[in-house]
Amino acid sequence: MKTAIITGASQGLGLVIARTFSDNGWQVIGTGRSARPDTLDQTIQYEQFDASDAEACTDFWQRFKDKATADEVCLVNNAGSYVEGGLLDTKAADYDKQMQSNYFSAVYMTRGLIDNCHKARIINIVSNSALNTHSSQSAYGAAKAAEKHFFQSLQKEFPASKYRITNLYPSDIASSGPNSNAINPVDLAGFIVQQADNKSTYYLPDVTVYPTKE
Ligand SMILES: NC(=O)c1ccc[n+]([C@@H]2O[C@H](COP(=O)([O-])OP(=O)(O)OC[C@H]3O[C@@H](n4cnc5c(N)ncnc54)[C@H](OP(=O)(O)O)[C@@H]3O)[C@@H](O)[C@H]2O)c1
Repeated sequence: MKTAIITGASQGLGLVIARTFSDNGWQVIGTGRSARPDTLDQTIQYEQFDASDAEACTDFWQRFKDKATADEVCLVNNAGSYVEGGLLDTKAADYDKQMQSNYFSAVYMTRGLIDNCHKARIINIVSNSALNTHSSQSAYGAAKAAEKHFFQSLQKEFPASKYRITNLYPSDIASSGPNSNAINPVDLAGFIVQQADNKSTYYLPDVTVYPTKE
């Protein structure tokens, strides 16, 4: 059985990614801090916990290990939040929250995966803001840059034959409604599932993704 774990599946891009894996024959476990969304298909398991809480992540992986029958595992680190504003527009706590939701959630979930699965695919929804700086994104951009640095370090620490890590750096995603100037989440989710299913002799370690804009 192929199992995909999607963090931040309560809404937005994560919800679409969870559905797309499920439609393509994967068993799916979605996670989020909010209660299970009504719009999530019943075939998708949903686990409510804060992925930026290290202990909650350890508990999740322990339960996963106890029940798992998966022979293929894909973790999609999608959970994140966005605060708009530069240093003087934001509070010190915003910097902490950005690191918690965008960076530490990915670190703790990945640590749990590696402790419990000897082989896996890991796909990370980073952001173009990890690559390019913006005057109004110092908190968000720094958290995403930390995420990029972490996973690029892991790409060197582990062989891709064991943990195949793909970092995506999308710019605008139409995750809260139609927007012809942004990436359609259904298209991005389709690409993510293709990468998870890719059994060829190559893989994509780092991918920038831009909207075509109509
Ligand atoms: N939208 C864009 O233009 C864009 C561009 C580039 C990259 N991205 C990245 O793509 C990802 C998805 O973006 P989106 O637009 O779909 O965002 P979104 O609509 O705000 O959804 C974010 C998801 O992350 C979850 N989440 C946040 N903190 C969490 C935590 N600590 N533990 C568990 N779940 C958590 C949220 O659920 P709960 O609140 O229920 O926890 C929600 O399901 C994010 O990482 C974002 O940074 C987005």
